[in-house]
Amino acid sequence: MNILAFESTCDETAVAVVTDGRRVLSDVIASQAEMHALYGGVVPELASRKHVEVIAALTEQALREAGCGRDDIDAVAVAYAPGLIGAVLVGLSFAKSVAFAWGKPLIPVHHIRAHIAANYLAFPELEPPFVALAISGGNTLIADVRDYTDLRILGSTRDDAAGECFDKAARVLGLPYPGGKPMDELARQSQGCVYPLPRAHVDGAELDMSFSGLKTAVVNLAHRAEQTGQPLDRAALARDFTKAVSGELVPRAMRALALTGHKALCAAGGVAANSVIRADLEDACEKAGCKLYLPPLRLCGDNGAMIGAQGYYEFLAGRTAGMDLNAYATRPLDA
Ligand code: KG4
Repeated sequence: MNILAFESTCDETAVAVVTDGRRVLSDVIASQAEMHALYGGVVPELASRKHVEVIAALTEQALREAGCGRDDIDAVAVAYAPGLIGAVLVGLSFAKSVAFAWGKPLIPVHHIRAHIAANYLAFPELEPPFVALAISGGNTLIADVRDYTDLRILGSTRDDAAGECFDKAARVLGLPYPGGKPMDELARQSQGCVYPLPRAHVDGAELDMSFSGLKTAVVNLAHRAEQTGQPLDRAALARDFTKAVSGELVPRAMRALALTGHKALCAAGGVAANSVIRADLEDACEKAGCKLYLPPLRLCGDNGAMIGAQGYYEFLAGRTAGMDLNAYATRPLDA
């Protein structure tokens, strides 16, 4: 089954053609990161406008590269939530138009479910159940993936997402947007252990997380250094910050494995590209005797192929939508 898939929830417009949820025939992405870098973060209206400009050409390219025409496409999948609402609406409206004009089923796909499904593309043998650690720019959560479309949230951030926290910390350290990758590179230049940073604990919810205190601590350290003229070891701070984020994520993911009894952990989302977090997950899973799935870097960030992967399983579960499907800025993963 060939699915034409659309992703436009933030600052990447992406279109892909995926066969049976596992094989990528084409996967084209137009990133807007350079445009938003001018403003130090995503400007929602500009994001929507850019999606409008490029989505038709990207669709033609994705179909051409897949060698597919209208008759080769069996269904249309689209990320309908969560995300910047104007941005999501562009992809959703375009996908609906294609489904309507071509008379194909329309499959709504939750963006975070799709991030997790990126693992199905990278690892053909992977099947639920497993624990997923989904860490992106807008969301951070740990899920029990009982089946392809039966997911339960075990814990999530109470405030900022991990990626958002990376982007804010990077900004005060003078790094460009999006800050995750440059922070990763800066952190590699130091062994850290210079700046004590706070760790969060949510009473009564051991798998929930909080990153806002950590973000504020980095902002305060950078501002204090600027005001007092004290030198700031930026590389050490980047390293200590990254270890602190990892220290929030990795032990909780391991605890989720213990609580569920699952023997496999999948990482997902843009922050899963972080080298320190990847290494810490590898160490922890090796010690616990659990299998770890780390998607390649190109499948960590937003892409259309992951929408096609999850879309296939949503279709098999009968989860198609009518032409009245709407977009949502927020939507629970387990709805
Ligand atoms: O999954 P994604 O592409 O978009 C969302 O769905 O949100 O994630 C983007 C986030 C950004 O915050 C970016 O700074 C972060 O992923 N990121 C990283 C790294 N590469 C991207 N964070 C930490 N280390 C990285 N190497």
